[in-house]
Amino acid sequence: MDVKPILAVTRRLPPAVEARASRDYDARLNAADAPRTRADVTALAAGAAALLCCPAERLDAEAITALPPTLRVIGTFSVGFDHIDVAAAAARGIAVVNTPDVLSVATAECALLLMLAAARRAGEGERLVRSGGWNGWAPTQLLGCGVVGRRLGIFGMGRIGRELAKLARGLGMAVHYRNQSRLPPELEVGAVFHDDDSSFLQACDILSLNAPGGAGTRHWLNAERLSLLPPGAVVVNAARGTLIDDGALADALRSGHVAAAGLDVYDGEPRVDPRYLALEKIVLLPHLGSATTAARIAMGMLVLDGIDGMLAGRTVPNLVGPPS
Ligand code: DGY
Repeated sequence: MDVKPILAVTRRLPPAVEARASRDYDARLNAADAPRTRADVTALAAGAAALLCCPAERLDAEAITALPPTLRVIGTFSVGFDHIDVAAAAARGIAVVNTPDVLSVATAECALLLMLAAARRAGEGERLVRSGGWNGWAPTQLLGCGVVGRRLGIFGMGRIGRELAKLARGLGMAVHYRNQSRLPPELEVGAVFHDDDSSFLQACDILSLNAPGGAGTRHWLNAERLSLLPPGAVVVNAARGTLIDDGALADALRSGHVAAAGLDVYDGEPRVDPRYLALEKIVLLPHLGSATTAARIAMGMLVLDGIDGMLAGRTVPNLVGPPS
């Protein structure tokens, strides 16, 4: 009888994904869905050929060093892989695979949800109703700004940014973008490319952050860049919390220079900066970007495809780190 390779899975996965993992692997699952510490991940991975982890587990060089010599592939249940030191994994001959594309629409929807909720003060309205303090309709109650016909600036025009642009075009928004390089016309679809931060930020009635995390984008949205936004702009982030200097955004919200914000991700999450919690004009979601049933099943299947392929010696399209 063939011995199945061990697959260490850090968190509970959709049932169809766990069923496939258990069919094909000696799968170590997490039925209680308890968050995993660094020490838990190391212990869980003992003797495993593959580790299926999540963005909440930081696999830096030290954590990678502690992984067992049997480990050949890390699959992350996310498109983002800024929580993994891919170079340290490569140095140990461990491949890294992720889940691109299948979550792009869901994450773009979440950015749109944040835009609308922040611009139309949905968080404040919901809190008012739930508090029992709502006295009824009034002409000047909780007035926000619309999004239809306004200018949307997308920082990071990758797969998710482009899906958001598509949704925004349907709302009659003019799309501006800042990206490492200009897209070809068929991907740009009329969006206006900016090759400097200043002209880009001045064109953002609403700014959506859709770039990857990591050292290159850390605190990109700082006090100086916030000051370049038009007064009354709205800021949303469904990418990575590290893109924002939290103190600077809290100050800009307090001063009213930024009218409202919507955040799905946080630097150091699940901790949320207490300065945000004290502000009314900010909508806070618990990292729900890809949280549709369909997207999460597709992510699970894709990460398993990548793990299967790498263990079988094939190169897979969702490989983000060597060996190839
Ligand atoms: C990702 O995929 O990187 C998200 O943050 C989790 O959906």
